[in-house]
Amino acid sequence: MKDLLDEIIEKNRYLINKGKVASYIPALGRANPDQIGVCIADMEGNIFAAGDYKQKFTIQSISKTISLMLAIMDNGAEEVFSKVGMEPTGDAFNSIIKLETILPSKPLNPMINAGAIAVASLIKGEDPESKFDRLLALFRKICHNEDLQVNEEVYLSEKSTGNRNRALAYFMKDVGVIHGEVEGILDIYFKQCSIEVDCIDIAKIGLFLANNGVVLETGERVVEEQVAKTIKTFMVTCGMYNASGEFAINVGIPAKSGVGGGIMAAVPRRMGIGVFSPALDEKGNSIAGYGVLKDLSKELDLSFF
Ligand code: DON
Repeated sequence: MKDLLDEIIEKNRYLINKGKVASYIPALGRANPDQIGVCIADMEGNIFAAGDYKQKFTIQSISKTISLMLAIMDNGAEEVFSKVGMEPTGDAFNSIIKLETILPSKPLNPMINAGAIAVASLIKGEDPESKFDRLLALFRKICHNEDLQVNEEVYLSEKSTGNRNRALAYFMKDVGVIHGEVEGILDIYFKQCSIEVDCIDIAKIGLFLANNGVVLETGERVVEEQVAKTIKTFMVTCGMYNASGEFAINVGIPAKSGVGGGIMAAVPRRMGIGVFSPALDEKGNSIAGYGVLKDLSKELDLSFF
């Protein structure tokens, strides 16, 4: 397996030059575009990894899977989906247009920024700090890694420049999708996106979902099977944003990307996969990461279609 991973990484390395590191969050613009890494965590407890799999990066939109999970655990699915839809969108992840044109106003799904901000507003706790601490504790449990932390530089960079997200949030407050103090809600969202991980951590998130809500190492059931299945379904329909359709055809695995360059994938009942390479395609997905997953899917026959 290790040889296969090394081979696939080298095969996809050329793609790095075809993408661009995200720069709309200034701190992300400083990432080294030459990096590429992969990790597989399987149901037998094996970890296989290659390339720059130890490199830390921020989790970004991959966090939306677990914040959705916590919001459902806190409120029940019915309440969450009364505020956030279940449908894919052909628009960019930070688009504002459908919030106004679709009535009654509600973000189309929890994987786009508007939906994830609405989800963050539903996490329970005394104040934004304790709400975020609950979310971080959940990440640590799922990744089986107590060292997970927020990258302060990225968090502050997002907070000071995230005016598109601010606009989405204030619009949603105006139309009654979110309630409470907007800056506090945004703070939870900016911090969740700035959690620092490596390929092993995100492979573990994928493994947890592949295992339908049970942490493999501890055997702890964290969430009902149905919730884990709901999240994997969102990964199929919306996880790669407006490239989700072609990703389903080319790769056929539930996956979630982030603008930090990570992609987390869950192969039901088989394995979690974490890939990282910070150069992105025009839709905000890691260009070499996509290539690695495409090859892995073919070589290991992972597509469930
Ligand atoms: O809010 C943002 O724009 C980022 N913190 C997260 C966006 C993201 O990861 C989109 N993913 N491909």
